[in-house]
Amino acid sequence: MKATIRDVAKLAGVSVATVSRVMNQNGYVNSETEQKVNRAMKQLQYVPNQMARGLAGKRTKTIALILPDISNPFFPGLARGVEDIAQNNGYTVILCNSDDLGVKERSYIEVLKKKYVDGIIFATNNLVQEDLERLEEAQIPFVMLDRAPDMKSGCVITVNNFGGAKAAVEHLLDAGCKKIAHIYGPKELVTARERLEGYEEVARKQPWYTPTLLVPGDFTIDGGVKAVEALLRNHPDVDGIFAGNDLMAVGALKALNRRGISVPGEVAVCGFDGVNLTEITQPELTTIAQPIYQIGELAAKKLIERIDQSSSHYETVELGVSLIVRDSTQKS
Ligand code: RIB
Repeated sequence: MKATIRDVAKLAGVSVATVSRVMNQNGYVNSETEQKVNRAMKQLQYVPNQMARGLAGKRTKTIALILPDISNPFFPGLARGVEDIAQNNGYTVILCNSDDLGVKERSYIEVLKKKYVDGIIFATNNLVQEDLERLEEAQIPFVMLDRAPDMKSGCVITVNNFGGAKAAVEHLLDAGCKKIAHIYGPKELVTARERLEGYEEVARKQPWYTPTLLVPGDFTIDGGVKAVEALLRNHPDVDGIFAGNDLMAVGALKALNRRGISVPGEVAVCGFDGVNLTEITQPELTTIAQPIYQIGELAAKKLIERIDQSSSHYETVELGVSLIVRDSTQKS
Protein backbone atom coordinates (compact mmCIF):
# COMPACT_ATOMS: atom_id res chain seq x y z
CA MET A 1 0.00 0.00 0.00
CA LYS A 2 1.28 3.52 -0.82
CA ALA A 3 3.04 5.20 2.13
CA THR A 4 1.35 8.30 3.55
CA ILE A 5 2.79 11.43 5.12
CA ARG A 6 1.78 9.94 8.51
CA ASP A 7 3.90 6.82 7.87
CA VAL A 8 6.89 9.03 7.10
CA ALA A 9 6.34 11.09 10.27
CA LYS A 10 6.07 7.93 12.42
CA LEU A 11 9.23 6.35 10.98
CA ALA A 12 11.20 9.61 11.33
CA GLY A 13 9.81 10.22 14.82
CA VAL A 14 8.55 13.70 13.96
CA SER A 15 5.16 15.40 13.43
CA VAL A 16 3.26 15.47 10.14
CA ALA A 17 3.72 19.26 10.11
CA THR A 18 7.51 18.79 10.25
CA VAL A 19 7.41 16.38 7.30
CA SER A 20 5.29 18.95 5.42
CA ARG A 21 7.83 21.70 6.17
CA VAL A 22 10.71 19.54 4.90
CA MET A 23 8.73 18.56 1.78
CA ASN A 24 7.71 22.13 0.91
CA GLN A 25 10.90 23.80 2.18
CA ASN A 26 8.89 26.37 4.10
CA GLY A 27 9.49 27.04 7.81
CA TYR A 28 12.59 26.14 9.94
CA VAL A 29 13.77 22.47 10.30
CA ASN A 30 17.23 21.62 11.69
CA SER A 31 19.49 19.61 9.37
CA GLU A 32 19.45 16.45 11.55
CA THR A 33 15.65 16.32 11.50
CA GLU A 34 15.60 17.09 7.76
CA GLN A 35 17.95 14.16 7.14
CA LYS A 36 15.78 11.81 9.25
CA VAL A 37 12.67 12.83 7.27
CA ASN A 38 14.42 12.45 3.90
CA ARG A 39 15.71 9.01 4.91
CA ALA A 40 12.19 7.94 5.96
CA MET A 41 10.68 9.22 2.68
CA LYS A 42 13.33 7.31 0.70
CA GLN A 43 12.89 4.12 2.74
CA LEU A 44 9.10 4.20 2.32
CA GLN A 45 9.33 5.42 -1.33
CA TYR A 46 6.90 8.20 -0.35
CA VAL A 47 5.58 10.38 -3.26
CA PRO A 48 4.22 13.79 -2.08
CA ASN A 49 0.64 14.43 -3.15
CA GLN A 50 0.64 17.38 -5.57
CA MET A 51 -2.61 18.58 -4.03
CA ALA A 52 -0.97 18.56 -0.56
CA ARG A 53 1.69 20.83 -2.00
CA GLY A 54 -1.11 23.09 -3.04
CA LEU A 55 -2.31 23.14 0.59
CA ALA A 56 1.11 24.26 1.85
CA GLY A 57 1.06 27.20 -0.53
CA LYS A 58 3.17 25.48 -3.17
CA ARG A 59 1.92 25.29 -6.73
CA THR A 60 0.12 22.34 -8.28
CA LYS A 61 1.10 23.69 -11.73
CA THR A 62 -2.48 23.37 -12.91
CA ILE A 63 -4.77 26.06 -14.27
CA ALA A 64 -8.46 25.80 -15.09
CA LEU A 65 -10.29 27.03 -18.20
CA ILE A 66 -14.05 27.46 -17.81
CA LEU A 67 -15.77 28.04 -21.17
CA PRO A 68 -19.47 28.14 -22.10
CA ASP A 69 -19.53 25.30 -24.67
CA ILE A 70 -16.51 23.70 -26.36
CA SER A 71 -18.81 22.37 -29.12
CA ASN A 72 -19.10 25.96 -30.47
CA PRO A 73 -16.11 26.16 -32.88
CA PHE A 74 -15.10 29.55 -31.46
CA PHE A 75 -13.88 28.03 -28.19
CA PRO A 76 -11.56 25.15 -29.28
CA GLY A 77 -9.17 27.59 -30.98
CA LEU A 78 -9.16 29.72 -27.86
CA ALA A 79 -8.57 26.67 -25.62
CA ARG A 80 -5.65 25.63 -27.83
CA GLY A 81 -4.00 29.02 -27.37
CA VAL A 82 -4.36 28.67 -23.59
CA GLU A 83 -3.02 25.12 -23.54
CA ASP A 84 0.04 25.82 -25.72
CA ILE A 85 1.23 28.63 -23.44
CA ALA A 86 0.35 26.66 -20.29
CA GLN A 87 2.20 23.58 -21.49
CA ASN A 88 5.28 25.63 -22.45
CA ASN A 89 5.33 26.93 -18.88
CA GLY A 90 4.90 23.53 -17.25
CA TYR A 91 1.20 23.89 -16.46
CA THR A 92 -1.61 21.39 -17.04
CA VAL A 93 -5.02 22.73 -18.06
CA ILE A 94 -8.34 21.50 -16.64
CA LEU A 95 -11.19 22.27 -19.09
CA CYS A 96 -14.75 22.87 -17.83
CA ASN A 97 -17.93 23.58 -19.85
CA SER A 98 -20.31 25.91 -18.00
CA ASP A 99 -23.18 26.10 -20.55
CA ASP A 100 -23.28 29.78 -19.58
CA LEU A 101 -24.94 28.72 -16.29
CA GLY A 102 -23.94 30.58 -13.15
CA VAL A 103 -24.68 27.54 -10.97
CA LYS A 104 -22.18 25.46 -12.98
CA GLU A 105 -19.58 28.22 -12.99
CA ARG A 106 -19.78 28.58 -9.19
CA SER A 107 -19.77 24.80 -8.67
CA TYR A 108 -16.67 24.39 -10.83
CA ILE A 109 -14.88 27.19 -8.97
CA GLU A 110 -15.54 25.47 -5.60
CA VAL A 111 -14.24 22.13 -6.94
CA LEU A 112 -11.19 23.80 -8.49
CA LYS A 113 -10.39 25.53 -5.19
CA LYS A 114 -10.30 22.09 -3.53
CA LYS A 115 -7.95 20.90 -6.25
CA TYR A 116 -5.67 23.86 -5.46
CA VAL A 117 -5.46 25.04 -9.06
CA ASP A 118 -2.98 27.89 -9.37
CA GLY A 119 -5.30 30.10 -11.43
CA ILE A 120 -8.50 30.20 -13.47
CA ILE A 121 -9.33 31.58 -16.93
CA PHE A 122 -13.03 31.91 -17.67
CA ALA A 123 -15.61 33.43 -19.98
CA THR A 124 -18.56 34.26 -17.79
CA ASN A 125 -21.71 36.28 -17.98
CA ASN A 126 -23.08 35.28 -14.59
CA LEU A 127 -20.50 35.80 -11.85
CA VAL A 128 -20.95 38.88 -9.69
CA GLN A 129 -18.57 41.04 -7.64
CA GLU A 130 -18.99 38.77 -4.59
CA ASP A 131 -17.88 35.71 -6.62
CA LEU A 132 -14.77 37.52 -7.81
CA GLU A 133 -14.00 38.84 -4.32
CA ARG A 134 -14.15 35.25 -2.98
CA LEU A 135 -11.62 34.21 -5.61
CA GLU A 136 -9.35 37.06 -4.53
CA GLU A 137 -9.80 36.10 -0.85
CA ALA A 138 -8.78 32.55 -1.77
CA GLN A 139 -5.74 34.13 -3.49
CA ILE A 140 -6.58 32.45 -6.78
CA PRO A 141 -5.48 34.68 -9.70
CA PHE A 142 -8.00 34.84 -12.55
CA VAL A 143 -8.35 36.19 -16.08
CA MET A 144 -11.71 36.75 -17.78
CA LEU A 145 -11.97 36.67 -21.55
CA ASP A 146 -14.45 37.36 -24.32
CA ARG A 147 -17.40 38.25 -22.09
CA ALA A 148 -17.04 39.48 -18.52
CA PRO A 149 -19.26 41.11 -15.92
CA ASP A 150 -18.84 44.87 -15.88
CA MET A 151 -16.66 44.88 -12.73
CA LYS A 152 -13.26 46.33 -11.95
CA SER A 153 -11.65 43.00 -11.02
CA GLY A 154 -8.89 40.80 -12.39
CA CYS A 155 -7.67 40.90 -15.96
CA VAL A 156 -10.28 41.13 -18.75
CA ILE A 157 -9.44 40.36 -22.39
CA THR A 158 -12.02 41.33 -25.01
CA VAL A 159 -12.15 42.34 -28.68
CA ASN A 160 -13.55 45.41 -30.42
CA ASN A 161 -17.05 44.02 -30.96
CA PHE A 162 -18.58 47.46 -31.64
CA GLY A 163 -15.98 48.44 -34.24
CA GLY A 164 -16.12 45.04 -35.89
CA ALA A 165 -19.91 45.24 -36.27
CA LYS A 166 -19.67 48.71 -37.79
CA ALA A 167 -17.09 47.42 -40.27
CA ALA A 168 -19.41 44.55 -41.24
CA VAL A 169 -22.35 46.85 -42.04
CA GLU A 170 -20.14 49.37 -43.86
CA HIS A 171 -18.75 46.51 -45.96
CA LEU A 172 -22.28 45.35 -46.87
CA LEU A 173 -23.17 48.92 -47.88
CA ASP A 174 -20.01 49.12 -49.99
CA ALA A 175 -21.01 45.81 -51.59
CA GLY A 176 -24.22 47.51 -52.81
CA CYS A 177 -26.76 46.34 -50.20
CA LYS A 178 -29.85 48.55 -49.99
CA LYS A 179 -31.48 47.03 -46.87
CA ILE A 180 -29.42 45.25 -44.21
CA ALA A 181 -30.73 43.18 -41.28
CA HIS A 182 -28.91 42.06 -38.12
CA ILE A 183 -29.30 38.69 -36.41
CA TYR A 184 -28.19 39.35 -32.85
CA GLY A 185 -26.94 36.92 -30.20
CA PRO A 186 -28.32 36.49 -26.67
CA LYS A 187 -28.78 40.03 -25.33
CA GLU A 188 -27.55 39.00 -21.89
CA LEU A 189 -24.08 38.62 -23.41
CA VAL A 190 -22.07 41.82 -23.67
CA THR A 191 -20.49 40.57 -26.91
CA ALA A 192 -23.91 40.32 -28.58
CA ARG A 193 -25.01 43.73 -27.23
CA GLU A 194 -21.86 45.50 -28.46
CA ARG A 195 -22.25 44.02 -31.96
CA LEU A 196 -25.90 45.06 -32.06
CA GLU A 197 -24.88 48.59 -31.05
CA GLY A 198 -22.24 48.63 -33.81
CA TYR A 199 -24.88 47.60 -36.37
CA GLU A 200 -27.27 50.30 -35.17
CA GLU A 201 -24.52 52.96 -35.22
CA VAL A 202 -24.34 52.60 -39.01
CA ALA A 203 -27.80 51.29 -39.93
CA ARG A 204 -29.93 53.92 -38.18
CA LYS A 205 -28.46 56.62 -40.46
CA GLN A 206 -29.83 54.77 -43.51
CA PRO A 207 -33.24 55.64 -45.02
CA TRP A 208 -34.33 51.97 -45.00
CA TYR A 209 -33.61 51.45 -41.26
CA THR A 210 -36.36 50.13 -39.00
CA PRO A 211 -35.94 48.26 -35.67
CA THR A 212 -37.80 45.28 -37.17
CA LEU A 213 -34.61 44.60 -39.15
CA LEU A 214 -33.15 43.39 -35.82
CA VAL A 215 -33.96 39.70 -35.32
CA PRO A 216 -32.94 37.55 -32.30
CA GLY A 217 -30.71 34.50 -32.60
CA ASP A 218 -28.95 32.43 -29.95
CA PHE A 219 -25.44 32.11 -31.40
CA THR A 220 -26.37 28.72 -32.95
CA ILE A 221 -26.89 27.52 -36.55
CA ASP A 222 -30.54 26.72 -35.88
CA GLY A 223 -30.96 30.17 -34.34
CA GLY A 224 -29.72 31.65 -37.60
CA VAL A 225 -32.13 29.54 -39.64
CA LYS A 226 -35.13 30.60 -37.54
CA ALA A 227 -34.05 34.25 -37.56
CA VAL A 228 -33.93 34.39 -41.37
CA GLU A 229 -37.31 32.68 -41.68
CA ALA A 230 -38.81 35.34 -39.36
CA LEU A 231 -36.93 38.15 -41.12
CA LEU A 232 -38.13 37.20 -44.62
CA ARG A 233 -41.75 37.16 -43.44
CA ASN A 234 -41.44 40.85 -42.51
CA HIS A 235 -38.78 41.99 -44.98
CA PRO A 236 -38.74 39.82 -48.15
CA ASP A 237 -36.78 42.62 -49.85
CA VAL A 238 -33.76 42.51 -47.49
CA ASP A 239 -30.54 42.13 -49.49
CA GLY A 240 -27.90 42.08 -46.74
CA ILE A 241 -27.57 40.20 -43.44
CA PHE A 242 -24.99 40.78 -40.69
CA ALA A 243 -25.05 37.88 -38.21
CA GLY A 244 -23.62 38.37 -34.70
CA ASN A 245 -21.54 35.17 -34.95
CA ASP A 246 -20.45 32.73 -37.65
CA LEU A 247 -22.78 29.90 -36.56
CA MET A 248 -25.83 32.12 -37.09
CA ALA A 249 -24.38 33.24 -40.45
CA VAL A 250 -24.12 29.57 -41.46
CA GLY A 251 -27.75 29.15 -40.38
CA ALA A 252 -28.68 32.15 -42.53
CA LEU A 253 -26.97 30.58 -45.55
CA LYS A 254 -28.90 27.36 -44.89
CA ALA A 255 -32.28 29.15 -44.70
CA LEU A 256 -31.61 31.23 -47.82
CA ASN A 257 -30.44 28.19 -49.79
CA ARG A 258 -33.59 26.28 -48.74
CA ARG A 259 -35.72 29.06 -50.26
CA GLY A 260 -33.67 29.15 -53.45
CA ILE A 261 -32.43 32.65 -52.62
CA SER A 262 -28.93 33.15 -54.07
CA VAL A 263 -26.02 34.34 -51.93
CA PRO A 264 -24.59 36.90 -52.58
CA GLY A 265 -26.62 37.63 -55.77
CA GLU A 266 -29.92 38.34 -53.97
CA VAL A 267 -28.74 38.49 -50.33
CA ALA A 268 -25.19 39.12 -49.07
CA VAL A 269 -24.22 37.54 -45.72
CA CYS A 270 -21.48 38.48 -43.22
CA GLY A 271 -20.66 36.73 -39.93
CA PHE A 272 -18.48 37.42 -36.87
CA ASP A 273 -15.77 35.26 -35.22
CA GLY A 274 -13.63 33.92 -38.07
CA VAL A 275 -14.00 30.20 -37.28
CA ASN A 276 -12.68 27.72 -39.88
CA LEU A 277 -16.24 26.67 -40.81
CA THR A 278 -16.55 29.92 -42.79
CA GLU A 279 -13.94 28.63 -45.25
CA ILE A 280 -15.93 25.51 -46.21
CA THR A 281 -19.44 26.91 -46.66
CA GLN A 282 -20.85 27.50 -50.14
CA PRO A 283 -20.28 30.36 -50.82
CA GLU A 284 -17.38 30.92 -48.43
CA LEU A 285 -18.45 33.38 -45.70
CA THR A 286 -17.24 36.90 -45.27
CA THR A 287 -16.70 37.47 -41.56
CA ILE A 288 -15.23 39.73 -38.89
CA ALA A 289 -12.38 37.59 -37.58
CA GLN A 290 -11.40 37.59 -33.94
CA PRO A 291 -7.76 36.69 -33.06
CA ILE A 292 -9.15 33.55 -31.40
CA TYR A 293 -5.91 31.65 -30.76
CA GLN A 294 -4.15 34.84 -29.66
CA ILE A 295 -6.92 35.59 -27.13
CA GLY A 296 -6.19 32.21 -25.54
CA GLU A 297 -2.42 32.75 -25.63
CA LEU A 298 -2.68 36.19 -24.03
CA ALA A 299 -5.09 34.98 -21.35
CA ALA A 300 -2.67 32.22 -20.34
CA LYS A 301 0.34 34.59 -20.38
CA LYS A 302 -1.52 37.13 -18.21
CA LEU A 303 -2.62 34.43 -15.77
CA ILE A 304 0.87 32.95 -15.39
CA GLU A 305 2.24 36.46 -14.80
CA ARG A 306 -0.33 36.94 -12.03
CA ILE A 307 0.52 33.55 -10.50
CA ASP A 308 4.25 34.36 -10.52
CA GLN A 309 3.80 37.87 -9.14
CA SER A 310 0.85 37.08 -6.85
CA SER A 311 -0.77 40.13 -8.40
CA SER A 312 -4.52 40.78 -8.71
CA HIS A 313 -4.65 44.32 -10.11
CA TYR A 314 -7.52 45.26 -12.46
CA GLU A 315 -6.46 45.32 -16.13
CA THR A 316 -8.38 45.33 -19.42
CA VAL A 317 -7.02 44.49 -22.87
CA GLU A 318 -9.10 45.01 -26.03
CA LEU A 319 -7.78 43.23 -29.14
CA GLY A 320 -8.59 44.27 -32.71
CA VAL A 321 -10.69 42.31 -35.21
CA SER A 322 -10.36 42.16 -38.99
CA LEU A 323 -12.76 41.99 -41.96
CA ILE A 324 -12.15 38.84 -44.04
CA VAL A 325 -13.87 39.36 -47.40
CA ARG A 326 -15.06 36.20 -49.17
CA ASP A 327 -17.65 35.26 -51.79
CA SER A 328 -20.77 35.64 -49.60
CA THR A 329 -20.66 39.44 -50.02
CA GLN A 330 -19.27 39.83 -53.53
CA LYS A 331 -22.52 41.03 -55.12
CA SER A 332 -20.95 42.59 -58.21
O1 RIB B 1 -19.82 32.05 -31.23
C1 RIB B 1 -19.73 32.23 -29.84
C2 RIB B 1 -19.71 33.67 -29.51
O2 RIB B 1 -19.66 33.76 -28.10
C3 RIB B 1 -18.49 34.36 -30.07
O3 RIB B 1 -18.88 35.43 -30.90
C4 RIB B 1 -17.72 34.82 -28.89
O4 RIB B 1 -17.33 36.19 -29.00
C5 RIB B 1 -18.63 34.62 -27.73
O5 RIB B 1 -19.21 35.81 -27.29
